[in-house]
Amino acid sequence: MSETSPRLRAELEGIPTYKPGKPATADGAAYKLSSNENPYPPLPGVMESVTAAACSFNRYPDLGCSALVEELAERFGVPPSHVATGTGSVGVAQQLVQATAGAGDEVIYAWRSFEAYPIITQIGGATSVRVPLTTGDVHDLEAMANVVTDRTQLIFVCNPNNPTGTVVRRAELERFLDRVPRNVLVVLDEAYREFIRDPEVPDGVELYRDRPNVCVLRTFSKAYGLAGLRVGFAIAHEPVAAALRKTAVPFGVSHLAQEAAIASLRAEDELLGRVGSLVCERKRVVDALRAQGWTVPETQANFVWLRLGERTAAFADACEQAGVVIRPFPGEGVRVTVGETEANDIFLKAAEAFRRGI
Ligand SMILES: Cc1ncc(COP(=O)(O)O)c(C=O)c1O
Repeated sequence: MSETSPRLRAELEGIPTYKPGKPATADGAAYKLSSNENPYPPLPGVMESVTAAACSFNRYPDLGCSALVEELAERFGVPPSHVATGTGSVGVAQQLVQATAGAGDEVIYAWRSFEAYPIITQIGGATSVRVPLTTGDVHDLEAMANVVTDRTQLIFVCNPNNPTGTVVRRAELERFLDRVPRNVLVVLDEAYREFIRDPEVPDGVELYRDRPNVCVLRTFSKAYGLAGLRVGFAIAHEPVAAALRKTAVPFGVSHLAQEAAIASLRAEDELLGRVGSLVCERKRVVDALRAQGWTVPETQANFVWLRLGERTAAFADACEQAGVVIRPFPGEGVRVTVGETEANDIFLKAAEAFRRGI
């Protein structure tokens, strides 16, 4: 570093940059299946709330998101003081790291998992402890419990896991939580909760109730279709929720986002109906891929994972040529969002052609 440039924190060196999914317009591909977004356009009622809210964006938003917090507390049957909002659940995840871990501390998570975990851990100055997924691409909770030390401050459990879509079920998760010391925060990242159909996958909100070291992360970005508005939230006992209020960027959640989130909660039946359609599409995509001969891990999210190893880049290129942008993880595999029927059809055709070597 030059003597004349400002001194920056050494921890930032070598930080991996967050790679957003490529947009659909890249090289003329028509559909974006690279960011696990909701393909449906905003509901008219939600649009109306946002449009009305836009009339006052000369004003700061409500700092505490109080109306939204009240609605969420009611919806989940928790005290409002246990709800903390943020700029997407990734914003809340970063606040959780800031609130718990610094230099010399350890943050445990499975790998591969959500790519923000290493970034926010390193920004916080803490050390990542990555525990490989099992051969079935599932969290190895036993191995994760085995690496807890006195330095462990935070553990992320991504359920379903991004990018594999795999889940951990009630008995194994409870066994894990029973093993983790009470002074270590366990974050159940449930960004894709609404897409789960496996009854054995527990709702984190139920697990949090009598476990003060469990925090549940949820988002409006996926099932509720508000990815561009940036609003997510945590449900946690008060010392943790209060710490999240301290680490929040003041006025981070816009008035538009707050109003859209409230309108979405009120339109939940309709939005969850759309989720139901995507779950049907998911089954269609998984069944078709398996019929083509691919190995597809059981997914409970709005995406599928193909472990392609060295063929990853070539597969992603082939999909893009065919008209769909997917998310490659070089040398490992691809994650493909379940999107519009037309997009899924194009993807399935491209996957079949690739498999046959055409
Ligand atoms: C597991 C997981 N957690 C959190 C997020 C963050 O979503 P947002 O910040 O839009 O709420 C994502 C987004 O892809 C995710 O996959």
